[in-house]
Amino acid sequence: ASEQLIDPFGRQITYVRMSVTDRCDFRCVYCMAEDMTFLPRQQVLSLEEIQAIARAFTELGVTKIRLTGGEPLVRRDVTTLFEGIGRLPGLRDFCVTTNGSQLRRYAAPLKDAGVNRLNISLDTLREDRFKELTRTGRLSQVVDGIDAAREAGFQRIKLNAVVLKGRNDDEVLNLVNFARERNLDISFIEEMPLGHISEHDRGATYCSSDDVRSLIEDVYPLLQTTETTGGPSRYWRMADSDSRIGFISPHSHNFCGDCNRVRVTVEGKLLLCLGNEDAVDLKALLRRYPGDIDRLKETIVHAIQKKPERHHFSSDGDVQIVRFMNMTGG
Ligand code: GTP
Ligand code: 5AD
Ligand code: SF4
Repeated sequence: ASEQLIDPFGRQITYVRMSVTDRCDFRCVYCMAEDMTFLPRQQVLSLEEIQAIARAFTELGVTKIRLTGGEPLVRRDVTTLFEGIGRLPGLRDFCVTTNGSQLRRYAAPLKDAGVNRLNISLDTLREDRFKELTRTGRLSQVVDGIDAAREAGFQRIKLNAVVLKGRNDDEVLNLVNFARERNLDISFIEEMPLGHISEHDRGATYCSSDDVRSLIEDVYPLLQTTETTGGPSRYWRMADSDSRIGFISPHSHNFCGDCNRVRVTVEGKLLLCLGNEDAVDLKALLRRYPGDIDRLKETIVHAIQKKPERHHFSSDGDVQIVRFMNMTGG
């Protein structure tokens, strides 16, 4: 079945990222405007619709699904969705990207539902800065959430840190040490220009992955690996630790050539690339033909033919995409 999802550039789609809500309990400066308005309920996919789309993709050969947000764990009754997706035959990798704030409550239910990998955002280890960067979050709650995930038995938890010059780039080594002490992986991310955020000057805070890497290599020699988690991260290892250090470098090392993924936005648009607007409306189809999985699959197969070759982000902070990150979860 999987050979049906090959795009015009020969890339096979095996990974789908689904945003389950645009809402979030944080307001990270690089993700949202401070006075964000959220979508009315009618415009958002129901849990049943999300489940139907996930099923269609797995029947077409997709083996990896990642649920994102906003913050996926603030959606009401989201555990039923996790349980449903966890039971889909053919799914090999079931992942969640979360800000960590709700993990004390949800880590065990997610594990029970079959989630096998968690990515948790963590940009700073200083409570004052955490407040500046997330506007509404509390660091202690996220650190407790990370502990809860480890206690629940998750293996290979990955931290995500968006590095911003002058705001948290002096914490790169502290974050690496935090990951090492807990046997976690950590990825450092170059910020992408999605959505216009007036209080935040993206051009001024750009920090390349090579700069971040050399900060780490001052203390820990790094060995590049060919390991992959099936996403854009390139991984390095330290000699004396199990932790992997990843770099997600949309600006400095374009990874579009190996792209294996598409996204479903919270409004049910099948978005063919994070950095382009090409999309197909699956929600309209589902609401017109409820339960018609074959029609859904046929539409997905056609949509993949519209996948663009690459994004054209620039690091000077100019916004090319008006959509905010919380519509797609990255
Ligand atoms: P795994 O490899 O499965 O761990 O996932 P991941 O690192 O790709 O996922 P995660 O949700 O943790 O996202 C980390 C960062 O990678 C976010 O900033 C995403 O926006 C970014 N990212 C993931 N896929 C793409 C992509 O196709 N294009 C771009 N530009 N960024 C991506
Ligand atoms: N650029 C890069 N990464 C971002 N994220 C959110 N907004 C941006 C952005 N503008 C990250 C979050 C989270 C992941 C899903 O995407 O930190 O770890
Ligand atoms: Fe919420 Fe994640 Fe966006 Fe931060 S990056 S505001 S935690 S969705």
